[in-house]
Amino acid sequence: MPFRRKKISIIGAGQVGATCALVAASRDLGDVVLLDRAEGMAKGKALDILQAGAVQLFDGTVRGTADYADTAGSDMVVLTAGSPRRPGLTRDDLLAINADVVASCCREIKRTSPEAVVIVVTNPLDAMAFVAKRELGFPRERVLGMAGVLDSARFHSFVAEELSVSVRDVQALVLGGHGDSMVPMPRHCFVGGVPLTQLLSLERITALVEHARRGGDEIVGLLETGSAFYAPAASIVQMVEAVLKNQRRILPCAAYLEGEYGVSGLFVGVPCLLGGGGLEKVCEMELDETERAAFEHSVGRVRALVDDLARLGL
Ligand code: APR
Repeated sequence: MPFRRKKISIIGAGQVGATCALVAASRDLGDVVLLDRAEGMAKGKALDILQAGAVQLFDGTVRGTADYADTAGSDMVVLTAGSPRRPGLTRDDLLAINADVVASCCREIKRTSPEAVVIVVTNPLDAMAFVAKRELGFPRERVLGMAGVLDSARFHSFVAEELSVSVRDVQALVLGGHGDSMVPMPRHCFVGGVPLTQLLSLERITALVEHARRGGDEIVGLLETGSAFYAPAASIVQMVEAVLKNQRRILPCAAYLEGEYGVSGLFVGVPCLLGGGGLEKVCEMELDETERAAFEHSVGRVRALVDDLARLGL
């Protein structure tokens, strides 16, 4: 069989999708297809990224399209299509708008890339991942949501800044739903192996946790015309790379739980082992009383969103 590069399709060539295409291509992860219903934009951005390759020297092709036939046989599909958050519009407000978009895109993905591992990015994330899994009908191993990598990246960056240390040495874990309802776990945060609780006061840790929780809103407020995209794109590519290279990394992702953490039938952020098959394992950990209460509160928020989907007939 002739050698074939991995194929990564990104649905939605907006801020997140196009940046994700650039990062994935720059890391030489494979051939990238950028699809948007706005065909000219997808084609224009793809050409621009391809030409960046002539400077950055990556080998993969980058192709823009509005036709799912061009995405056929993808190894991975990243779903970013939908409306971004705008000031005054919460993630939950986006539910109805984006559920339709996600469902229609997933019907096409199922038809054209039935073996792909799909990463959902469209918000409200945990509910959109639920819609995606339902429409795709794929096993849970091949449908994941990107949230925890981004939420923990935000926390990592604030901790590194506070302590004036390299962000490489900060390790933190975030569970639960995306954004407001995320559950940071300061007890499991380490800086170069030293527990964060021995480096910072509880007040400072709480302030940094709050900052991370509001991280997305802060950027929406500043941008005024959209939501974050650089860190989301970098976070997506970390997950894509873990799967395509079978890295067997443990990353916080939204996974469809089947009894783990006492939850069934919902996407919730938990530590996941990511490898060539996608979700290889949901890693369970013991939660103390406070963590368990915060986790359950967060799961309640996700469940309410999924109930809203049913109520709205979405
Ligand atoms: N099919 C294909 N593309 C679509 C569809 C559809 N049915 N509906 C919308 N799109 C495209 C839009 O044309 C637009 O180019 O999705 C793209 C979304 O891009 P942006 O508006 O720039 O949004 P972005 O900032 O990239 O965010 C995308 O990721 O982080 C989340 O909350 C964010 O849900 C949002 C998503």
